[in-house]
Amino acid sequence: MAATIILAWSVLLFSSFHGSHAQIPANISLGSGLTAGTNESWRSLSGEFAFGFYRLTGGLFLVGIWLDMIPERTLVWSANRDSPANAGSTVRLTYNGQLFLTYSNQTVQSIYTGASTSLGFMQNDGNFVLKDSNSNVLWQSFDSPTDTLLPGQYLVEGRKLYSNAKGNVDYSTGRFMLEMQNDGNLVLSAYHFSDPGYWYTSTSQPNVSLVFNSSTASMYLVSSTDIIHSLTMNISATPVENYYHKAVIDDHGNFQQYVYEKRNGSQWTSLWKAVTEPCYVNAVCGVYGFCTSPDNETVTCTCLPGYSPLDPSNLSKGCYPEVVPNYCADPSMRNFTVEVIDDADFPFMNFADMARIKPADVESCKKAVMEDCYCMAASLDYSTCNKKRMPLLNARKSPSTYGKKALIKVPIRTNATDVQDGDQKKNSHSRALLKAGFFTSVVLFFSSAATAIYYHPAAQRYRQRKNYSNATAVGINFRAFTFQELHEATNGFNKSLGRGSSGSVYGGILKLEDKQIEIAVKKLEKVIDQGKKEFLTELRVISRTHHKNLVRLLGFCDEDNHHILVYELMKNGALSGFLFREGERPRWDHRAEIVLEIARGLLYLHEECETQIIHCDIKPENVLLDSNYTAKIADFGLAKLLMKDQTRTSTNVRGTMGYIAPEWLKNVPATAKVDLYSFGVMLLEIICCRRQIELHRVEEETEADDLVLTDWIVSSLRSGKLEMVVRHDVEVLNDFKRFERMAMVGLWCVHPDPILRPSMKKVTQMLEGTTEVGIAPLVNAQL
Ligand SMILES: *[C@@H]1O[C@H](CO)[C@@H](O)[C@H](O)[C@H]1NC(C)=O
Ligand SMILES: *[C@@H]1O[C@H](CO)[C@@H](O)[C@H](O)[C@H]1NC(C)=O
Ligand SMILES: *[C@@H]1O[C@H](CO)[C@@H](O)[C@H](O)[C@H]1NC(C)=O
Ligand SMILES: *[C@@H]1O[C@H](CO)[C@@H](O)[C@H](O)[C@H]1NC(C)=O
Ligand SMILES: *[C@@H]1O[C@H](CO)[C@@H](O)[C@H](O)[C@H]1NC(C)=O
Ligand SMILES: *[C@@H]1O[C@H](CO)[C@@H](O)[C@H](O)[C@H]1NC(C)=O
Ligand SMILES: *[C@@H]1O[C@H](CO)[C@@H](O)[C@H](O)[C@H]1NC(C)=O
Ligand SMILES: *[C@@H]1O[C@H](CO)[C@@H](O)[C@H](O)[C@H]1NC(C)=O
Ligand SMILES: *[C@@H]1O[C@H](CO)[C@@H](O)[C@H](O)[C@H]1NC(C)=O
Ligand SMILES: *[C@@H]1O[C@H](CO)[C@@H](O)[C@H](O)[C@H]1NC(C)=O
Ligand SMILES: *[C@@H]1O[C@H](CO)[C@@H](O)[C@H](O)[C@H]1NC(C)=O
Ligand SMILES: *[C@@H]1O[C@H](CO)[C@@H](O)[C@H](O)[C@H]1NC(C)=O
Repeated sequence: MAATIILAWSVLLFSSFHGSHAQIPANISLGSGLTAGTNESWRSLSGEFAFGFYRLTGGLFLVGIWLDMIPERTLVWSANRDSPANAGSTVRLTYNGQLFLTYSNQTVQSIYTGASTSLGFMQNDGNFVLKDSNSNVLWQSFDSPTDTLLPGQYLVEGRKLYSNAKGNVDYSTGRFMLEMQNDGNLVLSAYHFSDPGYWYTSTSQPNVSLVFNSSTASMYLVSSTDIIHSLTMNISATPVENYYHKAVIDDHGNFQQYVYEKRNGSQWTSLWKAVTEPCYVNAVCGVYGFCTSPDNETVTCTCLPGYSPLDPSNLSKGCYPEVVPNYCADPSMRNFTVEVIDDADFPFMNFADMARIKPADVESCKKAVMEDCYCMAASLDYSTCNKKRMPLLNARKSPSTYGKKALIKVPIRTNATDVQDGDQKKNSHSRALLKAGFFTSVVLFFSSAATAIYYHPAAQRYRQRKNYSNATAVGINFRAFTFQELHEATNGFNKSLGRGSSGSVYGGILKLEDKQIEIAVKKLEKVIDQGKKEFLTELRVISRTHHKNLVRLLGFCDEDNHHILVYELMKNGALSGFLFREGERPRWDHRAEIVLEIARGLLYLHEECETQIIHCDIKPENVLLDSNYTAKIADFGLAKLLMKDQTRTSTNVRGTMGYIAPEWLKNVPATAKVDLYSFGVMLLEIICCRRQIELHRVEEETEADDLVLTDWIVSSLRSGKLEMVVRHDVEVLNDFKRFERMAMVGLWCVHPDPILRPSMKKVTQMLEGTTEVGIAPLVNAQL
C-alpha cells in the first residue's frame, strides 16, 4: 500500500505535461485526491478527457469531466452542478474506496459510497469508473449523466438528463428534462410545469434504452437487442476517430447532437436536433413570456404586453403581471383593454383552455375576452376564437402566412393624478367600485367572496321555493334586527373585519337578556331589488340550516336600503389565512380533521338539509375557524341574494379562479358537482398546504414544484413519486398512507367529467375510511 502512495505522489510531483496542467495517469489509486485551484486532474490515457475541478468564470469549481485538448474545455459531466465549490475544496478517493467531495467549509458531499473499490479509472471515452479488485465496475459517471451523453453512453429506463440553467454560464439544473420513461417513450418536457412533453418518440416497448453507439456515433432506441427507433442513423460522415461527438439537452429545451472536428480552429456544430422550431418548446419563455425565433435557431424571449420580466438578466425565466387587477370586480370594464398581436399564437394548454367561439372575427373575439372576467387572452385561429385563462404559457410568433392573432387583456396604466382629477366628483361611486376590486386582491381576514359574486342561473333550479308570509316570525333563534340595534352593536360599524365585492363585514357585540354574543355583520351591497318577500325567502332557506360545520346566521336587517346579515363571529378567521400564512404550517392531523369537517358541512348542504343548497364558491376564504379551530362553511345560500350585473351576461358565474369546475366555463348547466370540484381543489390545498396556483414558485428554479397543484399531483403520481409533493412535510411523510388516500379522493373530485366525480356522501365515506377509494384517474384536471 505504502508503495502505491509513494508512486502516486511521485507522479503528481514530477510529471508535468500540457502546460501548467498536472497530469496523473489513468489508474487512480486509493488515497489519491485533487484540490480545487491547483490545475491537477486525472486524465484519460489519450489525454482527451480530464476528471477534476472545472474552473467556472466566477472563480468557483465543479467536480467534473471535460474535453481537455480543445480550447473550449467542454464540460460533459459534473457531480455538484447545483453547489459549486470554492478553491481549496478537495475530491478524494479514500483508502476504503469511496469518492468524496469536501468543500472548503468542510461540508462533505459523497459521490460514491458503495462497496469498496480498489481503483478509479478515467477512460478514453470520457467515462470515469470505479472498479473492484476483480475489475468489475462498481460506479461510473456514465450512469449519472447531467445534461450530456457521449458516444458509448446509454440512457436506460427511468434515467433523465436535465438542461443547464444557462448555456456555458450557469451549469446548475435548468428547466428542461429528457427522460427515458419506464413506458418506453423518450420525452422532452418542461418539468416545472408537469408538462406532458413537447417532443417524444411515442415508443412503447418494454425496457427501452437510448443508445449512443460508440463506433458509429449514431443514436437510437433499443428494446432488448432490437433497434426500435432511430434518432440519428447514417447522419453524415463524421467518424469518431476524427470528430468529438456529444448529445446535449440545452437551456432552451432542445436535444441536439453536436460534432467537433479534431483540428485547430474547429467549433461545435449541430448535426441533428429534436425540435425544429424552438418556440414549440413548452414554456421556453416561461409564464407570460413571448417567444420569437425568426431563423429556427436562436430564441428571443420578451414579455406579453402588461407584464414585466421576473429576472431582467434572463428573460426566459418568464414574466409577472405589473398589476393584478381583479377583473371580476371591475364591471365598468374601463380599467383594461384588449391588445391584438398580429401573427402570434397561444397554443393549446390543458389548463388554460376555455370556451371556443365559432365563427369569430377580431371584434367579436375581443368582445368575448372583454366580457368574460376569467378570460385573460385568446387566440384567433382563422375564424375560431379560443379563450384562455391564466396562467398563459407558450405564447409565440407564428408565421404570417397562418394569419393567426393573439389577443391579450391588458390593464390600462392610468396616470394616478388623472384618476384623481377626472372622475372625482361626478363618479365617486364607480371609483369606489374600482378600489374595491383592488382591495379584494389581497387576502381578507374575514370571509367574503374575494371575487365578484354573480349567480349562476343553473344553480337556482335546485332550490324549491316556499312562501313565507311573515317576516319576523321566521324561526326560533333567528330574528329581524332594526338598523338601530345593529348600529349600536357594531359601535357605528367601526370595526371592519374585511370586505369583498358582496359587501363589508364588521365585528360587534350583541347584548341579549343575560348574555353577550360576538357577531359578524355583513352589509350586502348588490342585493337584487326583487322585493322584501324574495329576500326573506332566501334568508329563510339559510336560517333553517343547522350544522356544526356551517356558520350560523342569527338574523338580518331589511330596512330601507339596508340589507344586512348577522352571523356568529368566527374568532380564528378564514382557513386561507390559517393555511397559507408565513412560517409554521398547521399540524397535519388538524388539517386532515378540517377536511373532514368541511366535507360534513357540504354533505349537509347538498343532501341533508330541507332544500338542497349549492354553495357555488367553495374556497379557503369561505371556510372559517371558530375559537376551537373547528371549520365552518360560510357564505352559503347567498347566490340568489346578489345582483347579477346586467352588462356581463356571458359570465354570470359565481365562483373563484382556480376553484371553478371546467363545465361552468363552458356554459353547461351546473349541478352540485361544481361544489365537488371546488372542494377537491381545496382538499388538495389543505393536505399539501399550498395554493392551487402559485406563480411565485416559478422563480425557485431549483425546485421541481409545479405551477398548478392539481397538475403537479397528477404528474407526480404518474411518475410514481407522490411523496415529492410533500417532501418537506415530515408529519405527512410519517402518515403517508392517509395522505395518499386523501389525495386520491381529491383527484376524483377534480375529475373533468362531472359525472365521474363522487357525491359528497361518497366523499365523506371515503375520507372516513368506510368506503374504499378507487385508484384515481390520472387525467389532467382542467380539460
Ligand atoms: C491500471 O490497473 C490495472 C489493474 O490493476 C492494471 O492492469 C493496469 O496495467 C494499470 N494501468 C496503468 C496505466 O497503470
Ligand atoms: C491554472 O491554470 C490557469 C489557466 O491556465 C492559470 O492561469 C493558473 O495560474 C493555473 N494555476 C496554477 C496554480 O497553476
Ligand atoms: C459549504 O459550502 C457548500 C457549497 O457552497 C454549501 O452547499 C454548504 O451549505 C456549505 N456548508 C456550510 C455548513 O456552510
Ligand atoms: C434492460 O436493458 C438494459 C440495457 O439494454 C439491460 O442492461 C437490462 O438488463 C435490461 N433490464 C431488464 C429488466 O431486462
Ligand atoms: C454500434 O453499431 C455497430 C454498427 O451498426 C454495431 O455493430 C455495434 O454492435 C453497435 N454497438 C453497440 C454497443 O450497440
Ligand atoms: C444506414 O446505412 C446502412 C449502410 O449504408 C444501411 O444498411 C442502413 O439501412 C441505414 N440505416 C438507416 C436507418 O437508414
Ligand atoms: C494546433 O496548433 C498548435 C499550436 O498553435 C500546433 O502545435 C498544433 O500542431 C496544431 N494542431 C493541428 C492539428 O493543426
Ligand atoms: C422553421 O421550421 C419550420 C418547420 O420545419 C419551417 O416550416 C419554417 O419555414 C422554418 N422557418 C425558417 C425561418 O427557417
Ligand atoms: C401624468 O400626469 C401628469 C400631470 O397631469 C403629466 O405631467 C404626466 O406627463 C403624466 N404622465 C403620464 C405617464 O402620462
Ligand atoms: C384600475 O386601475 C387603477 C390604476 O392602475 C388601479 O389603481 C385600480 O386598482 C384599478 N381598478 C381595478 C378594479 O382593477
Ligand atoms: C307578522 O306577524 C306579526 C305577529 O305574528 C304581525 O304583527 C305582523 O303584522 C306580521 N307581519 C306581516 C308583514 O305580515
Ligand atoms: C369548544 O370546545 C369545548 C370543549 O369541547 C366546548 O365546550 C365549547 O363549546 C366549544 N366552543 C365552540 C365555540 O364550539
